Amino acid sequence: MRSPSLYHPVTIGSVTVEGNIFLAPLAGYTDRAFRTMCKWYGASFTYSEMVSAEGIARGGKNSDELMVRSENEEQFSIQLFMSDAEVVARALPRVLLFNPTVIDVNCGCPVPKVVKTGAGSSLLVEPKKIFNIVKTIVDGCDVPVSVKIRLGWDMQSINYEETAGAALSAGASMITMHARTKSMGYAGKADWQALADLKRFVSSSYPSVPVFGSGDLFSAEAAKEMLETTRIDGVMFARGAIGNPFIFQDTITLLETNTTSSFHDIEERIAAMRTQLELHSAIVGERLACRQMRKHAAAYLKGMSHSTKAKQELVQASSIADYEEVFKWLSEEHR
Ligand SMILES: Cc1cc2nc3c(=O)[nH]c(=O)nc-3n(C[C@H](O)[C@H](O)[C@H](O)COP(=O)(O)O)c2cc1C
Repeated sequence: MRSPSLYHPVTIGSVTVEGNIFLAPLAGYTDRAFRTMCKWYGASFTYSEMVSAEGIARGGKNSDELMVRSENEEQFSIQLFMSDAEVVARALPRVLLFNPTVIDVNCGCPVPKVVKTGAGSSLLVEPKKIFNIVKTIVDGCDVPVSVKIRLGWDMQSINYEETAGAALSAGASMITMHARTKSMGYAGKADWQALADLKRFVSSSYPSVPVFGSGDLFSAEAAKEMLETTRIDGVMFARGAIGNPFIFQDTITLLETNTTSSFHDIEERIAAMRTQLELHSAIVGERLACRQMRKHAAAYLKGMSHSTKAKQELVQASSIADYEEVFKWLSEEHR
């Protein structure tokens, strides 16, 4: 059965995005080069890696770098993490210099270094703080504000209606939920039923606010199933996009034509790795790009024959020429 309505534009406050298949923020992965690839392969919308509002307020060079978008990101969200509204008030003027399409508030990061400062998923237990943070941004600029939450801190404190409600009453224009608790980290099954419940809850008072789902999206089929079974407005690919930017194209094809095309041969993978490496190298320099590309390359090669040996070689690769040698070898082995 055709289901064209599952792929559609979404409106986030004053902004309309042409599709509803997004790339999630992924610290350490969704750099400019990788986001460029995902956009090429059809990602409707992209996010910066999470950026510290405190770092921005202090004028940190690294924070500035994280807020720069690539040429093909006409629309782009900057995701901020912060412990309270006062920090975000100080950071906001600098954030606005980077002209984000949407400002996203991270309420889900479980990393101890972040949590112990009162940021990320710490905010889940303090909905009032979420309200104050969102209100400060909404009152401070015309950029739509979104929040990314989790189910709650742990199974005993599931409170997504409360945290989403706090964000909405402060003026949030979109809610994304990673359907796990903070305690689960990235393990265990995401609770998609909770996404359906959240959608119903949000629509009852804020029918125009889109709800996005995240968690266990590792294939085009999974995205379709999440959209169909939960009635949420859109999905965000996270780990499923690492080494697999093709997933956006695959998903759009599946949603629009009901045909599956998720096989990507070694030549296609090599071509994508080569482009991503060149893009990244132009941004951070060849040496660093080669080092940082290794984890992406390992993901591109996952499940392919000869990948173990290729990955061993790439651990040593420190120049584009080194990568090219491995690509050549792989290509020959696959002939
Ligand atoms: C390595 C890694 C980095 C992440 N970084 C961020 C981040 O900066 N901001 C954020 O909101 N979520 C972050 N997430 C969470 C993802 O956006 C996503 O919600 C989560 O991985 C669940 O989706 P999945 O099960 O399909 O991977 C990160 C996840 C991983 C695995």
